[in-house]
Amino acid sequence: MSQPEPQQTPFLPVYRRAETIMIRGEGVYLFDDQGKRYLDCSAGIAVNALGHSHSHVVAALQEQAGQLWHCSNNYTTRPLQLFAERLVEQSRLDGGVFFCSSGAEAIDTVIKFVRRTQYVEGSKKQRIITFHGGFHGRALSCISAGGNATAREGYAPLLPGFDQIAFNDLEAVKATITPETAAILLEPVQGEGGVYPADPAFLKGLRELCDTHGLLLCLDEVQCGYGRCGSLFTYDQYGVMPDIVACAKGIGNGFPLGAVITNQRVRKAITPGCHGSTYGSNPLAMAVGNAVLDMMLKPGFFAHVSEVGAHLKAALDAIQQEYPDSISQVRGFGLMLGLQMQLDARAFATELREAGLLVAPAYGDVIRFTPPLIITREEADQAVSILRECLAKH
Ligand SMILES: Cc1ncc(COP(=O)(O)O)c(C=O)c1O
Repeated sequence: MSQPEPQQTPFLPVYRRAETIMIRGEGVYLFDDQGKRYLDCSAGIAVNALGHSHSHVVAALQEQAGQLWHCSNNYTTRPLQLFAERLVEQSRLDGGVFFCSSGAEAIDTVIKFVRRTQYVEGSKKQRIITFHGGFHGRALSCISAGGNATAREGYAPLLPGFDQIAFNDLEAVKATITPETAAILLEPVQGEGGVYPADPAFLKGLRELCDTHGLLLCLDEVQCGYGRCGSLFTYDQYGVMPDIVACAKGIGNGFPLGAVITNQRVRKAITPGCHGSTYGSNPLAMAVGNAVLDMMLKPGFFAHVSEVGAHLKAALDAIQQEYPDSISQVRGFGLMLGLQMQLDARAFATELREAGLLVAPAYGDVIRFTPPLIITREEADQAVSILRECLAKH
């Protein structure tokens, strides 16, 4: 057996992990094993919507852990019944929800449900229109749908059936629709691609095109949804109803959980045995999902996201004016904000981390601010002052 190299880690190097060892989280802060405190404006890449160690979520998980962890999808559990009813009601999609354990699994499910719906309707439509800069996860189907070349490299043959075109270009969509087109899949706000919101007219136009041509409008709200942009579902900000929406990340606040919610049209195509997931609907995940929703549905929660988001964006806009050579643009809304850097975004994110601020780099030299949605104005101001200190050194 060959000897491992001296610096080799026991985990396969799919991530550029910092050497920092995180041991504890509280609210918007993370603490490493040296006792250093970090203001977490990444939130595990838009995941810890309620911050770290939220007492209501911790209590719900602990209580459920003492009752029932797993019992297979051959049975209904109380937390499943409750969470499903609440999510369907909130989504205003009348078909139902399928639970899974991650964003990639949710998107793979969306792709399957699109094909299945068209198949059951007796149509030959199978192709899905997706967009440059879109990111839908790491499963083979997801990288086939996604627009990230690095994520795809070396994995051919990809899943066929996707037509990728420019984001926010309605004319390009019109030109791409053929009798084989089954659906359009997009993130209302592209996340990994660099925080690019869909133009409201674009999303409305997509809905109209879908209605005209019998296509399914599928929204990937894994990153931008679940409160992040100022409402539970980001489509509510746009006034556009999808046929299918995929959720993950914030829905479980860090507990592995994904959901696909559909309308009646899709429901009609779903029969027992056509899909499944051993851990989907897991009672621990359902209890956490209910606890997260309890907090988000409290009066004022989403207004807080919009208010602190606007405050943070105004501060970032001001910094951009001060340092136009380092930051060329601020994009996004709610608490999903991106800085288009003129500096190496990864290297700068490392400088920020050393100064005690965690952010998430995105494709194309972008730095994302996706803090816990409970962040206060004062905490957002702290983040901005650390950013300013680091920019001043350049
Ligand atoms: C928009 C979007 N869709 C899907 C995914 C995949 O989610 P997961 O990493 O939970 O599989 C991500 C992850 O970043 C995402 O941002």
